[in-house]
Amino acid sequence: MNARWLAFPLGLALLVGAGARADEQAIPGVWDATQARTDYQLKCQGCHRPDGSGDDHSNPPMHGVVAKFLTVPGGREFLGRVPGVATVDLPDDRLANLVNWTIHRFDPTHVPQSFQPYTAEEIGRLRQNPLRLERAATRARLVAGFAKTHSEQSQ
Ligand code: HEC
Repeated sequence: MNARWLAFPLGLALLVGAGARADEQAIPGVWDATQARTDYQLKCQGCHRPDGSGDDHSNPPMHGVVAKFLTVPGGREFLGRVPGVATVDLPDDRLANLVNWTIHRFDPTHVPQSFQPYTAEEIGRLRQNPLRLERAATRARLVAGFAKTHSEQSQ
């Protein structure tokens, strides 16, 4: 193989890598931050907004909130089963990449130290069982749980 053929994929990798922000390069469980950012833009931000702020009506904000779900029992499963995540037309590995990115991108301060990134296998399992009508009640129970955790911490 001559040197030109080696230089081509290297140049391409550098080009693609340049699309991700420096602080997104080392997020645990994110093997391709550029892909995650693009997937978020195409599949998620229509509802959750580019900055994760959501709206005041039906789409919840993720900014400064979403990782709190990881602090309450059942929250980890919820994030993989919520319909916007579970039913998106992305393969499991790209979805795991995207969910790990989303959590760190929008709410890095609440990610528990013990958090193990989602794997493609775990996301694949959770999304087989998407939440349906029960999701509002499930969500409300989890949110009440983290409100309680926080008030206990401040006492
Ligand atoms: C059609 C609008 C819509 C799209 C598209 C969408 N979501 Fe959501 N998302 C919601 C709503 C509404 C909820 C609240 C739970 C529910 O009722 O489904 C939610 C909840 C969530 C949650 C749980 C946090 C919470 O506060 O409930 C996460 C994480 C999430 N979405 C991530 C994503 C990701 C990642 C994508 C893209 C793959 C995505 N969503 C696409 C509307 C959307």
